[in-house]
This record gives sequence, structure tokens and C-alpha cells, in this order.
Amino acid sequence: MARTAVGALEGRRIVLGVGGSVAAYKAAIVARELMRRGAAVRVVLTAAGARFVGPALFTGLTGQAVASDLFSEGAPEHIALAAWADAAVVAPATADLLGKAAGGIADDYLTTWLLAFPGRVLFAPAMNRHMWSHPAVQRSVGVLRADGVVVLPPVYGALAATGEGEGWGRLPDPVAIVDALGAMLSANGPARRADLPAPHAPDLAGRRVVVTAGPTRERLDPVRFLSNPSSGRMGYALAEAARDRGAEVTLVSGPVQLSFPTGLTVVRVETTRQMLAAVLEALPGADVLIGAAAPADWRPAEVSPIKWKKGDGGEQRIRLVANPDILAEVGRQKGRLIVVGFAAEAGAGPEEALRKLRDKNLDLVAYNDVREPDAGFEVTTNHVILFDRAGGRQEIGPLPKRAVAERILDGVCGLL
Ligand SMILES: Cc1cc2nc3c(=O)[nH]c(=O)nc-3n(C[C@H](O)[C@H](O)[C@H](O)COP(=O)(O)O)c2cc1C
Repeated sequence: MARTAVGALEGRRIVLGVGGSVAAYKAAIVARELMRRGAAVRVVLTAAGARFVGPALFTGLTGQAVASDLFSEGAPEHIALAAWADAAVVAPATADLLGKAAGGIADDYLTTWLLAFPGRVLFAPAMNRHMWSHPAVQRSVGVLRADGVVVLPPVYGALAATGEGEGWGRLPDPVAIVDALGAMLSANGPARRADLPAPHAPDLAGRRVVVTAGPTRERLDPVRFLSNPSSGRMGYALAEAARDRGAEVTLVSGPVQLSFPTGLTVVRVETTRQMLAAVLEALPGADVLIGAAAPADWRPAEVSPIKWKKGDGGEQRIRLVANPDILAEVGRQKGRLIVVGFAAEAGAGPEEALRKLRDKNLDLVAYNDVREPDAGFEVTTNHVILFDRAGGRQEIGPLPKRAVAERILDGVCGLL
């Protein structure tokens, strides 16, 4: 379940944009869920959207006139509606709306309103799977993300039109859309687009990036496990930076205490073997894998189904077996995939990172010494040396993990 700040939508004024998709009927459930959480909702319906669901549905639900025609007398004036709103959600967002919003086109009420609105916007696209994977649509998504817009990727499932079958393109569940909007508006994020950091060039638009983050846990008994103090911050910073540079990101995360980022797919795992399986599932079609997780290298040979008792004796022996090495497994069969690894060392020098680069068939490896005060596991900064296969060596930091992430992604972009 997405972690939404309690009451993030209470008292908020939300504009709900509805595009011309079969999924438009689900916008009614989004409107209801927003109102159930205490938000005031005004609906903007595109002309194509109105072919699928009538304005009367939304007027009936919200008690407010629906805006559709920029020039009609009596419609809410778009500049006034832009001043009224705290945030916007466009659900379903069509390929057409993504392209227009990315290109700054304003040829109807919704697209004009979106340009006039300075607050935060979330797009929830829904479309045919070939439309979603079209490079033009992915470019638009990349540009929007680089502009600070949150794009909630469509989910896998049955698509609307007869004979379309299953694929990526289905509108996420309305409750998940409202959760993502709540997360966007919760304490961590800036309320207005103008307060976002200057956008980075969308140099990863159209690319698929898989990032692993955090520790893994290996159970000893129902209440104990082996793990390590990885906070997941470096991996999350890399995933967010890749998203903001336009990539479609899958974040495979071990158990961490961080809020889930919006606008990317998070797969939660517990053990190293689950992490490997999730990575292998996410890799087809991916361009980059960044292994920033600290997966447990070992797991207990036996897991006790019942809790060990102190009375079991003064000594408890644990026999460990080796876990699979995720990066080495991927490196063996990587083809054109760019693979980036981390070598978090405590004692071994940079030569250990170079050994990993070679032995695991990596393209880049970031070495850090976790014993340094500004680097490694539980701190918000990092200090790494980035090695590449051509013998290149670049020292980065100490800097905030997000800044380190940007520099590592610069290295990745240089290889793509
Ligand atoms: C039956 C039908 C279903 C459609 N479903 C979608 C859809 O799910 N996603 C999409 O991007 N476009 C879909 N379209 C195409 C859009 O309606 C069309 O591009 C329209 O111009 C979008 O206008 P709008 O972006 O102003 O809402 C569909 C069209 C039809 C006729």
C-alpha cells in the first residue's frame, strides 16, 4: 500500500482533468475518492472525454459546473479556476494530452488550464499498450517528468478494447491514483511547480531503468533475521533522479524506512532471492540496471518454523549458505544492458571495486568506504570513486546522495 500522509487531501482544492479514453468512467470513482478524503473537486472534461462520460455525471457528483469549452459563456473562467486550485490530477490522461502538455500546446480548456496553473500536477495515463510504448509518448512522459510533473505509469492488465488482450496501458486503480496524489502533496514535496529544483534535461526519456535499493533480510526464525544497516537512500536517490530525467523506472526495494517515490514502479522484496527474481522480471526491455542495494550474501541453511528459545542452550549454531550474486547473474547474460554496481567496502581498497567491475562484467562501479563519516550506509551523503571499463576514474563527493546520483547517471548517459 502506498504511504500517504494522513489527511494530505483534507481541505485541498483539486482539479480533475478527464481525457477521451474508455477509462474515463473511472474518473467518477477518482472524484468520489477525492471527496471522501475531504478534497473539493472541480472537473475539466475534454471534448473527447465528454464522448465517453457526460458532464452531468460529474456535476451530480461534485455539485459544481464542469468546465469543457474555453469559450462558452457561463463556464468557469480558466484563469480563475487556476487560481482556485491547489493541485491537479489528469485521469485518464490520453496520449494526446501527454503530447500537448509536454509541448506546451493550449488548444482547449484543459490544456490551456494546465499551462495557466502553477501548482503540482499528476498525470495518470491510460491507453493501448502500443500507444504507451510508442517513443513519441515516452518522450512526452520524459519531458513532463523533467518539468516536475508526476506521471503515474499505467499498470499491467486487461485493456479496454475488444481483442486488445493484456498489456501495460491500463489506468491504475482510482484509489491508487488518489494515494499517489496524496503522496505528491504530503510534507516532503514542494506545493508549487515553481518551487521545484531547476529541471534536468530529459536525457533518459524513453529509457527503462531498473534500480535495486536497501538491504535484504534472511529469516532465522519467525522473529529474527540477518540483514545490514543499508538505508536505501542511495538507490532511492538514483531512482528518483532517473525518473526526473525522463526514464521509466522500476525500483526493487528491500525493507527500508523511506516513503515510496511517486511516478515509478516500486517492487517490494524481502530476501536476496526475491530481489534477484524481481530484477530478472523487470529486466526485459530495460536499458540500465543499477545495483545500489546491499543484498545479504548469505542466508541460514535452515529456517526454524518456531521461535528459538533461550532455554535451547547457551550456544546457537547457524550454518549459512551463499545467496546468488544478483549483479554477477545479470552480468553473465547482459547483452546491451548497461550494468552499474556498487562496491561498499570496509577494509578492501578500490582494487576490490575494479575486481568486481571485471569479474561481474559491469560497465560502471561506484566504490565507497563505508567506514568514512560522509559515505555509506546510514548517512545522507556519499563519497564514491566511479570506475569504468575504459580505465576511467572519477571521484564524486562527499555530496548529498541525490547529487552523487546525478553524477552517476551522467556516467550512464555517456555509455547509452
Ligand atoms: C473508443 C475509443 C477509445 C479510446 N481510448 C483511448 C485511450 O484509452 N487512451 C488514449 O490515449 N486515447 C484513446 N482514444 C483516442 C482519443 O480519444 C483521441 O486521441 C482524442 O483526440 C483525445 O482527446 P483528448 O486528449 O482531448 O481527450 C480512444 C478513442 C476511441 C474512439
